[in-house]
Amino acid sequence: MIKVRVPATSANMGPGFDCLGVAIQLYNYVSIEEYDGVKIDIIGDGEDFLPKDERNLVYQSAMEIISRADKTVKGLHLILENNIPITRGLGSSSASILGGMIAGNTLVGSPLTMQEILDIAAEKEGHADNVSPAVFGGFTVNSYNGKTVNSLKFPVPEDICFAVFKPAFFLKTKKSRSVLPNTVSHHSAATNTGNAAMLVGALLTGKYEFLKIGFSDELHQKFRKKLIPDMDYIFRVSEKHGALGSYLSGAGPTIISVISKENVSFLENIKKDMEKYKKWQVDVYEPDNDGAVIL
Ligand code: HSE
Repeated sequence: MIKVRVPATSANMGPGFDCLGVAIQLYNYVSIEEYDGVKIDIIGDGEDFLPKDERNLVYQSAMEIISRADKTVKGLHLILENNIPITRGLGSSSASILGGMIAGNTLVGSPLTMQEILDIAAEKEGHADNVSPAVFGGFTVNSYNGKTVNSLKFPVPEDICFAVFKPAFFLKTKKSRSVLPNTVSHHSAATNTGNAAMLVGALLTGKYEFLKIGFSDELHQKFRKKLIPDMDYIFRVSEKHGALGSYLSGAGPTIISVISKENVSFLENIKKDMEKYKKWQVDVYEPDNDGAVIL
């Protein structure tokens, strides 16, 4: 079987709404082979509720690429190993779409380029900020015109990692977007532009003291906060324990604090402060700088 590994991603990173994203070392795996019919085995997240027939997103994505490439298969056998939690703001749908598309493309001889797959995946997912880091890995800056994703990738520096606060509850992107205002003031837009530029600069120069400003945004976090109880508390305790900055991952509800690898006691300290907040699980992940790979 052909096996593809796709990383989890964290979009927006504060002010980079719909345009900045990063990949982390938490992975979904898609194995594929031609099969007489449809057979889908799921291990891990969603194994008890995701569809195991033609309605499956990975299956549909693989078939879409095979058809766009003018190829045909009798049917597919897929094995999905899901470690990225679903509907939590860590790019599980991007990983499913890309896992299916890259696996399907590989199965029929790789007729499409990664850029073509990225553009089709962005069209299907709707936003470029999750799909692009899932393809390329690292930290990506993206501009999407509804047709093509223009994407720049930078490796995430080796000296930082990500404390990921995953809650037990789901938050659908559609709901999380529904609380956003239709317009913001010119002042807010200008401030947001400065913060996003600062974030890119801080990551590229290693001047992490600017990350806290770089993660401040005017476009979504303050509106989404009402859907995510404990967000302010998590930001506060992370800062107390030396996080370089915190932001809402994608549309939420996961929250990420970026920490220096030298801050070795962060996880132990934060776990004490999160003891009473039982619905939140905290783990530390390294950045992924490889993106989607065919194993
Ligand atoms: N940029 C998107 C949002 C991420 O914040 O709604 C989810 O794809």
